[in-house]
Amino acid sequence: MTAAPILEVEGLAVAYGAAFAVRDLSFSVPEGGIVALVGSNGAGKTTTVQAIAGAMRPRAGRVRLAGAEVAGADCAEMVRRGVTLVPEGRLVFPQMTVDENLRMGGLNARAAPNVTRNLARVFELFPRLAERRNQLGGSMSGGEQQMLAIARGLMAEPRLMILDEPSLGLMPKLVGELFGLIQRLNGEGITILLVEQNVRQTLQIADRAYVLEKGRVVLSGAGSDLLDDPFVRKAFLGH
Ligand SMILES: Nc1ncnc2c1ncn2[C@@H]1O[C@H](COP(=O)(O)OP(=O)(O)O)[C@@H](O)[C@H]1O
Ligand SMILES: [Mg+2]
Repeated sequence: MTAAPILEVEGLAVAYGAAFAVRDLSFSVPEGGIVALVGSNGAGKTTTVQAIAGAMRPRAGRVRLAGAEVAGADCAEMVRRGVTLVPEGRLVFPQMTVDENLRMGGLNARAAPNVTRNLARVFELFPRLAERRNQLGGSMSGGEQQMLAIARGLMAEPRLMILDEPSLGLMPKLVGELFGLIQRLNGEGITILLVEQNVRQTLQIADRAYVLEKGRVVLSGAGSDLLDDPFVRKAFLGH
């Protein structure tokens, strides 16, 4: 894929107090692509995407979105610029209904005028959510909450959707559906940055993937090439 990058991360460093979780991290995401960050627990994947989405302030480095420097911008500004994070652990609002959760996702100035159209779109994509629109978020199953979290993200009309471990805790059948959904959204023009521990399925759909270890990129390449990489096979694919 030779499309211009929508996201360029260069020399990113992020810390909790004095402890650096990410240092000198660089990668890029081409417009229209699917790029994956993989790596074991604690590698720094969540910290990285939190910093990109504006939920954590980088200590150093550049984050460019469609060419504009955005390192240090807050979440509201990143959402307005078209970057939506579907966070690890889903974080749906348990005491709000499905409908209210979805409306919360569409509050930014760009998407707010289109809330009716966007609700219709996500209900078409997720008929289950339409059936349950008046049910409390917290009363839904794990799989339904993950769909709700993704649908809430779509309400913001993202250009770049970042998904942090969306398959965590899902039944195998739902994992397959989830990966299909991600490909469908990408086919509709949304660029995807995907954090996953489900490495095999992720590399199968990723144009490019970066392997993180201790806050650094240790390996990168086309998803299909990494599937055959001896290090990746040993560390993540069990052979
Ligand atoms: N809130 C926090 N406070 C202090 N350290 C944290 C916090 N969150 C994560 N860390 C540390 O940062 C490192 C990277 O964590 P994280 O980004 O969550 O990794 P991953 O998402 O790849 O599992 C780990 O060493 C983790 O213990
Ligand atoms: Mg994580």
